Amino acid sequence: MIEIHNIHKAFNGKKVLDGVSGVFETGKTNLLLGASGTGKSVLLKCIVGLIKPDLGSVTFDGTYFTNNKLDIRQEIRRKIGMLFQGSALFDSMTVEENVEFPLKMLTDMSKEERMERVNFCLKRVGLEGANKKMPSEISGGMKKRVGIARAIAPNCTYLFCDEPNSGLDPQTALKIDELIKEITEEYNITTIIVTHDMNSVIEIGDKIMFLYEGKKLWEGTRDEIMDTDIKELNDFIFANRLMRDAKKVEEEEREEERNHEHSDAAGSQELKK
Ligand SMILES: Nc1ncnc2c1ncn2[C@@H]1O[C@H](COP(=O)(O)OP(=O)(O)OP(=O)(O)O)[C@@H](O)[C@H]1O
Ligand SMILES: [Mg+2]
Repeated sequence: MIEIHNIHKAFNGKKVLDGVSGVFETGKTNLLLGASGTGKSVLLKCIVGLIKPDLGSVTFDGTYFTNNKLDIRQEIRRKIGMLFQGSALFDSMTVEENVEFPLKMLTDMSKEERMERVNFCLKRVGLEGANKKMPSEISGGMKKRVGIARAIAPNCTYLFCDEPNSGLDPQTALKIDELIKEITEEYNITTIIVTHDMNSVIEIGDKIMFLYEGKKLWEGTRDEIMDTDIKELNDFIFANRLMRDAKKVEEEEREEERNHEHSDAAGSQELKK
């Protein structure tokens, strides 16, 4: 479980995060949702320690991270896997070398052990046998898979994914979302995914935090998100015509159900008479 408390961050006097608090649960895909420029990536970077918050704290499974001693922070960092916005693979390295890289950096595994782990991770993301390909030779979806394999290679306890399915077609995007969810549940990882994609929300939003202009405006599950009365959230969700139509159908179904119940009740009243 990751807890954040009252995170503030400003750049050159411009407030980006304005006191964000919340809990991200273990074994769940926790989504950070919000419009472009609202501070999602900055919050993610504050959590992993790539940016130091001006105020506030982050706790990983009860261990205080922000401002703690270097060796404690390093120990937590070793448990973090990160899939960056845009995959960020090393272009001059093969797929295999990309996935091996964090193992070289963070573990004292032998070459043989590293290769075993690389092959295991590549198989897990459906890329068995792609070891010797260069990033330029593979598709966007495959690059994301390599990015995920690299993130989970050192047996991560915490997984952070910044826009894991941006730039992918809807079907491939869904496959990547599902893969992240499966891995999260299989290895009981605490996963935080930054997204602005409503498809991801509906498919894998175990728990969602909605950010708006640097503040947390709402949190809840994918089942609850359609029924909020927060204007900013509704404007965000129903910017999409498909979502507006889905909401209309749902409301019509509810209305029909209510009418049914009403006429059933009226019917049974009649019978009693
Ligand atoms: N290192 C930085 N220095 C100055 N300003 C920054 C820095 N990083 C982010 N910002 C600013 O903080 C704000 C939030 O940026 P952030 O990258 O978190 O947005 P986002 O919600 O991830 O958007 P997107 O969905 O487009 O990725 C933006 O106005 C951005 O310009
Ligand atoms: Mg971003």
